[in-house]
Amino acid sequence: MRFAVISDVHGNALALDAVLADIATQGVDATLCLGDHVSGPLDPAGAAERLMGLDGPVIRGNHDRWLAQGRRDDRDLDPTDLFVARTLRADQHAWLAGLPATDVFNGEIFLCHGTPGSDNAPWLDGWYHDRRSTLPTEEVVTRIADGLDYPVMLCGHTHMARSVRLRDGRQIINPGAVGLQLVHGSPDARYAVIERRNGKWLTSLRVVEYDHHAASQQAVDNGFLPWKAALATGWTDAHGLF
Ligand SMILES: [Fe+2]
Repeated sequence: MRFAVISDVHGNALALDAVLADIATQGVDATLCLGDHVSGPLDPAGAAERLMGLDGPVIRGNHDRWLAQGRRDDRDLDPTDLFVARTLRADQHAWLAGLPATDVFNGEIFLCHGTPGSDNAPWLDGWYHDRRSTLPTEEVVTRIADGLDYPVMLCGHTHMARSVRLRDGRQIINPGAVGLQLVHGSPDARYAVIERRNGKWLTSLRVVEYDHHAASQQAVDNGFLPWKAALATGWTDAHGLF
């Protein structure tokens, strides 16, 4: 069994097309998707259209939940999500609102956006302070996996590609972001391929080049200048994007 894992498309249909083309060369049985599908000032309707046609499980992220609620947890929608809310079709809003927070695929792969208990908490990375991300301790990462009896656990949300193996052999994998690269200094799209071979799960973290200058220009054309450098370089943090 071989699966692609994508997350954090953030409305970037150009990056998603490049990743889906790469996935088509990988001989996977299905593509799994971990949320924050549309929240970017690029082509949210185009991203939703592609993701609604995926052949694997799709869960929601914090931004997808906020769009469905019509507000963030503690305040109104940010300008980016207001743009997205106006851009999506009614059937796409309905699709977002119906997505589950977590899922289990094939009985052995657990999917969540942030952590099992929260779509807005980070698991394998601390959140960024300016341009620095901080790493949680082994104890913190392991405690979040308490009680989850799955050999593979998937998360997204922090946009940092990482593969962790706990001492008991269970793996936690963040495929990184398809559509919005932050702080690690590359504009290229990220995703993961996981494969069970001889009873063991193996992980490949993949990097896909795409026309990030065109994506950056889309954001500028839609009036969202702070997204320009983030999409063009991958060096900035999320400040000012949402
Ligand atoms: Fe998120």
